[in-house]
Amino acid sequence: MSIHPPSPELPTGPVDGDRVRLRRHAEADVDDLAAACADPLIVRFLPHLPHPYTRDDARWWIQEGAPAQWTAGGAAHAIVDPATDRLLGAVGLGRTGLGPGGVPLGEVGYWVAPWARGRGVATAAANTLAAWAFGHGYQRLELLTDLENLASQRVAVAAGFQREGVRRGVARGRDGSPSDRIVWARLADDPPGPSPRLLPDLPDGQLSDGVVTLRPLRTEDTDVMYALHTLPDVTVRSVRPVSPSRAEIQRRCAHSGARWLAGERADMAIMDIASGEIAGEIGLYYHGQATGQAMIGYSVLPQWRGKGYATRATRLVVRWAFDQVEIARLISGTAPDNLGSQKVLARAGFRREGYQRARLPGPNGTRVDDILYARLRTEPA
Ligand SMILES: CC(C)(COP(=O)(O)OP(=O)(O)OC[C@H]1O[C@@H](n2cnc3c(N)ncnc32)[C@H](O)[C@@H]1OP(=O)(O)O)[C@@H](O)C(=O)NCCC(=O)NCCS
Repeated sequence: MSIHPPSPELPTGPVDGDRVRLRRHAEADVDDLAAACADPLIVRFLPHLPHPYTRDDARWWIQEGAPAQWTAGGAAHAIVDPATDRLLGAVGLGRTGLGPGGVPLGEVGYWVAPWARGRGVATAAANTLAAWAFGHGYQRLELLTDLENLASQRVAVAAGFQREGVRRGVARGRDGSPSDRIVWARLADDPPGPSPRLLPDLPDGQLSDGVVTLRPLRTEDTDVMYALHTLPDVTVRSVRPVSPSRAEIQRRCAHSGARWLAGERADMAIMDIASGEIAGEIGLYYHGQATGQAMIGYSVLPQWRGKGYATRATRLVVRWAFDQVEIARLISGTAPDNLGSQKVLARAGFRREGYQRARLPGPNGTRVDDILYARLRTEPA
């Protein structure tokens, strides 16, 4: 977190929030601080913290690091349980500069100890800190999250921060390599969280028809997705008909949660329920948000073809898109010779709307034709 000295100090007294209290760090926090900061998630996503993190590091933070952040016009709070005063985490505010009229701008950061996660502590602390900072003249608070840190991105949304984009190379990994960050911001007059989302979570995390289950793509799917997307007949029918590298596929899988939360696309693995194996992939690409139109694309691994899985998956996505996402019109496209895919779309209730000449880039600089299919929310199932 960068700090912009010197500036007037914020009041250092405790701040009470919803089931959390923010207070200055105290000597009694040393053991909990050292134990929490040795946690693998904190080591991974807060690469500026020392590693290994010792009791001496904890003492330095309490006696020097945190006080320096206060002196520079920011804040460095411990998050504690209001009933027991036990350390649950930390939330800080760094003054990053002054906006128009000299109003302070800041950056928020937080971590929650492993023993306190998954029950809204980070969300409550970020909300409490934001309200308190706005009450003391801050106008804009930023939050930077790693693209793979989905838990923190969800906290950002829950605490009313809005995604503004990706700042490339703004941070450093533990090995010193440049690393991108998603920029979130909450302004003093923004409504309290949660921020609106274009693509909601799947109900109970999945869609199922009893034969296949669709669930969000994740990093562990990289090997299967690499095998799928390097198949010649999948590559040639991709919007960019080039065989992807493993690193590209790994990034796609690892960032798919971030893109879902951003409302850009919902990528799902098609799972065969009987075997638990991945049979393919289906995605909803929400490029036409202003007009309520989204596109569907899918691919199935050769050993799972011919079983109706693409049709099942498409029907499930169609129902979700029309019932739970505010989508009015779904489109999909197929190559003129891709009769299998045309059957899938017809069975899933799509109608052929047109023949688009040279619609897509083809191999070796060529252009290829594409048949447009569409299904409307108002059409019967
Ligand atoms: C990020 C962190 C602070 C969240 O703390 P927390 O108290 O568990 O947060 P909350 O309970 O308020 O919210 C966590 C959200 O992330 C979700 N979540 C947790 N682990 C997740 C994971 N591995 N993948 C996706 N989502 C996850 C939770 O379900 C919850 O979302 P929901 O309320 O929409 O269901 C905590 O995981 C942490 O300390 N991580 C390491 C340090 C860090 O990343 N700090 C932030 C740097 S930007």
